Amino acid sequence: MKLRFDYNNMMTSAIGSHGIAPSVIDKAQKAHVAAFKEVIDNSGKGWQEWTETPLIDEKAVAELNEFGKEIRDKASSFVVLGIGGSALGPICVFNALLHLHHNELPEKMRKAPKIYVEDNIDPVRMSSLLDVIDVKTSYFNVITKSGETSETLSQFLILYNMLKKAVGEKEAKEHIIVTTTIGKGALYACAEKEGFKVFGIPSGVGGRFSVLSNVGLVPFAVMGVDIDSMLYGARAMREACERPDIKSNPALMTAFLQVKSMEAGKNISVMMPYADGLKTMADFYCQIWAESLGKAVDKAGKKVNCGQTPAKSLGVTDQHSQVQLYTEGPFDKVVTFIGVESFGDNVDIPSDETADIGNFLKGHTMGELLTAERKSTEFALTKAGRSNFTILMPEINAETVGELLMYFMYETAFAGAYLGIDTFNQPGVEEGKKATFAMIGRAGYEEKLKELESLEKKAEYIIK
Ligand code: PA5
Repeated sequence: MKLRFDYNNMMTSAIGSHGIAPSVIDKAQKAHVAAFKEVIDNSGKGWQEWTETPLIDEKAVAELNEFGKEIRDKASSFVVLGIGGSALGPICVFNALLHLHHNELPEKMRKAPKIYVEDNIDPVRMSSLLDVIDVKTSYFNVITKSGETSETLSQFLILYNMLKKAVGEKEAKEHIIVTTTIGKGALYACAEKEGFKVFGIPSGVGGRFSVLSNVGLVPFAVMGVDIDSMLYGARAMREACERPDIKSNPALMTAFLQVKSMEAGKNISVMMPYADGLKTMADFYCQIWAESLGKAVDKAGKKVNCGQTPAKSLGVTDQHSQVQLYTEGPFDKVVTFIGVESFGDNVDIPSDETADIGNFLKGHTMGELLTAERKSTEFALTKAGRSNFTILMPEINAETVGELLMYFMYETAFAGAYLGIDTFNQPGVEEGKKATFAMIGRAGYEEKLKELESLEKKAEYIIK
């Protein structure tokens, strides 16, 4: 494992009474064993097929790479249509592993087509997309596990219709790539009928745990990401997360510390990477943490209304926006820093600059300044008694990103096991999906519509 996890600043030794005493960890042996067993014993079973996603064989990787190359050779743009767990993996890996201004690079300098991940249905966004892509030479990866999500289906309908008009019905079919559950859902049926290329999502891999299945791997192949290294990293993290001793298992330890912090009223989890390439990794974390742990009842049906509200923050940008609150506001947060030790492109701050300003900066690199600021923020928070821990990445590459993604999935699964909840369902989201079907007039949702219409809006509570 290349990542390092430093949880010193979660402990009483660093932050006093707001921290966790070592005895709290030691005395919870039974809970550690139970949480560990629940996740590890169920590896590859039920909704835990995600643990197996990095284990695909060489042949499958070779096929993905070949497919990726084929699309790279002919596409001007590659557009992912999906939402939630069907979009955030492609978004965060695109951000982490490709040039930060990939789409703006001249074609010769780009190793892949322009990449867009459309995870909203704002009509302005759709028309803006259509202003910058050439539909005739664009390829669309429609990703939906259920094959039924209104947002994704609406995007598909619009773009397939445009494609047919632009290149004709026969060729349009070749521009659509579907990633969905084989044999289930409306999109699979449509793909079969229309003859689209289909990639499957294993039935026991849920949306937010699907980044290392075809949901992520197909776009990563098109992006030219080193899938072998990414899966190698994910497997290394899997091994680390299968260590039974909490003191050497990063995901088990940080999950426990987070759950203990929650019990002490620290209901906000701030994810603060210090690298622009990891900005959307915080979005990935926010979704998996929120949707998995925000639950009304535990597995025994007892009302728990648990969860920790995730918040994203970017170092150093948000030092000038959020950190004042983190340092002096309520003691209700745990901050996770992600630090990067070596930036591929470092930029020198020139030492021979004649302007007599900022002399203390001269001769340093931007990377050094960024690291100094991360450590200073860590210091300021710790001094103020604020819970924080740091994930250190030697550098951002396919292997370390694979490790980080796998760590987030295990950390979430262990946290859910400590909380005794069903980590892998999302009844709150499903309720919203059903209400949308009802409002838009889908057959079979008439009762839901009645329920919606029965909600009374009092005029006196509306300000005009
Ligand atoms: O994590 C989840 O399960 C959700 O966020 C889903 O990914 C999201 O609702 C999209 O669902 P689908 O992939 O079925 O379109």
